[in-house]
Amino acid sequence: MDEVFYHEPVLLRETTQYLLEAHKGDSEGTKRVYVDCTLGGGGYTKKILEDSPEETVVIAIDRDVYAIEHCKKVLSEYSSRIIFKQRNFGEIIDIVQSEGFEKIAGIVMDLGLSTFQLSHEAGFSYQKDTALDMRADKSQQLTAADVLNTYGEKDLADILFKYAEMRYSRQIAKEIVEYRKSKKFETTFQLTELLSAKVPPRFLNSDLSRLFQAIRIEVNNELENLERVLEDSPEMMTEGARIVAVSYHSLEDRIVKNAIRSNEKLKVLTKKPVEATEEEISLNVRSRSAKLRAAEKDSNKQGSKNKYKKDI
Ligand SMILES: C[S@@+](CC[C@H](N)C(=O)[O-])C[C@H]1O[C@@H](n2cnc3c(N)ncnc32)[C@H](O)[C@@H]1O
Repeated sequence: MDEVFYHEPVLLRETTQYLLEAHKGDSEGTKRVYVDCTLGGGGYTKKILEDSPEETVVIAIDRDVYAIEHCKKVLSEYSSRIIFKQRNFGEIIDIVQSEGFEKIAGIVMDLGLSTFQLSHEAGFSYQKDTALDMRADKSQQLTAADVLNTYGEKDLADILFKYAEMRYSRQIAKEIVEYRKSKKFETTFQLTELLSAKVPPRFLNSDLSRLFQAIRIEVNNELENLERVLEDSPEMMTEGARIVAVSYHSLEDRIVKNAIRSNEKLKVLTKKPVEATEEEISLNVRSRSAKLRAAEKDSNKQGSKNKYKKDI
């Protein structure tokens, strides 16, 4: 699979800089363990290892078996410094502890989908006619087709509204339920056609991406996993260790922002989210919506309000 283009990392320099800066002055020879919660094509993990001393180890998590298989090949020169885990990052405590580690030196997460998932895995893209799957972890039961064929109208409307702030969420949910009375949902173009018939052409692409986003979030339980990892991580971090999260839509960014602001063990480092430069956007359009937020473990944080450090 390594001949296939997998993913172009977004905000790579900024992310690893925030993460690694915490340990710049540490003495040589200290073994540090970082967690890359979203391995994908391995861009972040590789950069962390390149920019760190030899002793540094990365626990590289992805729930998608293709990401793990791909990175085992392309990062083979670092194999002694990477612990691959095909798991859900929502289980971060168990993942770290089961490897015998108690504390970690920092955590990164780059949310959403890889380019490979969008272009090669079934269900994620509305531009290709594929099975309505959308499972990042193919061993799980629930698929996008299950959601569309079995959820009640109100639940569907709630998903579309909550997970994608979709206009006409109730009407679209009603249409979905109406449609499946005569035909089961099996492929992505059925959804595309259903929406094309209801939405003015100028809104079609943005509504399609919202609809697919909402179903994908439901299938993969994305927001709950994100809340769990943000809540559980600070406890496992050493003093001064950093958590860096890159998100691509407002729901995720809001969860990250609120979680790091309200955690009494974290000091926020990014007053405003860091965004991609014009240059990066011109080279990689996916970076346009990226928002990076970072925080540092500080158990002695005074008062309830965060004092922001100067942004990098
Ligand atoms: C945007 S890609 C990461 C790209 C990576 N930073 C790189 O440089 O190539 C996001 C990855 O996170 C994975 N992912 C999303 N949610 C996850 C979860 N809850 N647990 C584990 N992996 C997850 C996806 O399967 C996908 O491979």
